[in-house]
Amino acid sequence: MEKKNLDWANLGFTYRPIDYRWQTRWHDGAWEEGGLTTDPDITLSEAACVFHYSQSCFEGLKAYTTKDGHIVTFRPDQNAERMQNTCRRLEMPPLPKETFLKALDETVKANAAWVPPFGTGASLYIRPVMIGSGPQIGVAPAHEFLFRLFAMPVGSYFQGGVKPIRIQVAQYDRAAPRGTGHIKAGLNYAMSLYPTMEAHRAGFAENIYLDPSTHTYVEETGGANVLFVDKDNNLIVPKSNSILPSVTRRSLVYVGEHYLGLKVIERQVKFSEVKDMKECALCGTAAVLAPVGMIHSEDGDIYFPSGMDKIGEISGKIRETLLKIQSCEIEAPEGWIRRIL
Ligand code: PLP
Ligand code: COI
Repeated sequence: MEKKNLDWANLGFTYRPIDYRWQTRWHDGAWEEGGLTTDPDITLSEAACVFHYSQSCFEGLKAYTTKDGHIVTFRPDQNAERMQNTCRRLEMPPLPKETFLKALDETVKANAAWVPPFGTGASLYIRPVMIGSGPQIGVAPAHEFLFRLFAMPVGSYFQGGVKPIRIQVAQYDRAAPRGTGHIKAGLNYAMSLYPTMEAHRAGFAENIYLDPSTHTYVEETGGANVLFVDKDNNLIVPKSNSILPSVTRRSLVYVGEHYLGLKVIERQVKFSEVKDMKECALCGTAAVLAPVGMIHSEDGDIYFPSGMDKIGEISGKIRETLLKIQSCEIEAPEGWIRRIL
């Protein structure tokens, strides 16, 4: 199979319609068979529930080319499960795990020419999405739903690759105390757009949100979880019920503990402690592991000892190890890699 002729090393993180996507609809209490389509557009009723009441959710995962030329995905069962949890909270019909994985396999296979070659630093980003597609005018869940899974080749999420980024403490809350912070609902991102643009206008790459009840503890950023390395080289992982259970973060914790012998401490992290940390990084499928060089807050700016020029030593090691596991250069824990081709 001949790869597409793209500038793989300079893709950025942007939408690009590629050859195939996969779709199924839910109505009368069941999912249709579903299958591949070439049409990137969706036609909906003006009264579709998603337009008015934001009944929508999504996932994000990646496919990689391995050194020996196979195409693999990373822990897709975790995304399938998380999407089911999200659906339950949003009164949407959970998609069976086998259907999610079938959609993934078929889409990646059909678009194999778009999966970036090994060694380019790029990957195929896969975006499963579900919406309340049925017409609904009273505030209630839709009676029809649409699941679609599409993909595109991407490079770095943040400009500059692994150069440390500057972020700011948001002046807004991301999640209500008993709200939807722990699920991947579209509404969590809608409300983050204004703060995100404010951060960008002020020269910051992202917002870091504090807990919505007390504004004392670190939560996460708009699109990634946060990690710290303390002075004793322990990996400090903020714990909260209102952050997304990131697959990347859970994998990095395992990698830190079992591949690198780090001590991992998962606990609530006060923002007042952050100034004493040695390294800070954001982690997620899109972000992979992006080093943070500086955090701006109303109480002053925090510059981490790892600096603004390069990724910190521990962050660099866990990032490299995870990437090597994802592209099968080093052996993955049981069940992490799903070979597609
Ligand atoms: N937190 C938020 C708010 C996100 O949108 C994402 C991206 O999916 C993550 C964290 C990272 O999660 P994962 O590692 O599963 O991609
Ligand atoms: C991902 O990392 O897959 C996400 O969904 C984050 C998104 C904000 C780009």
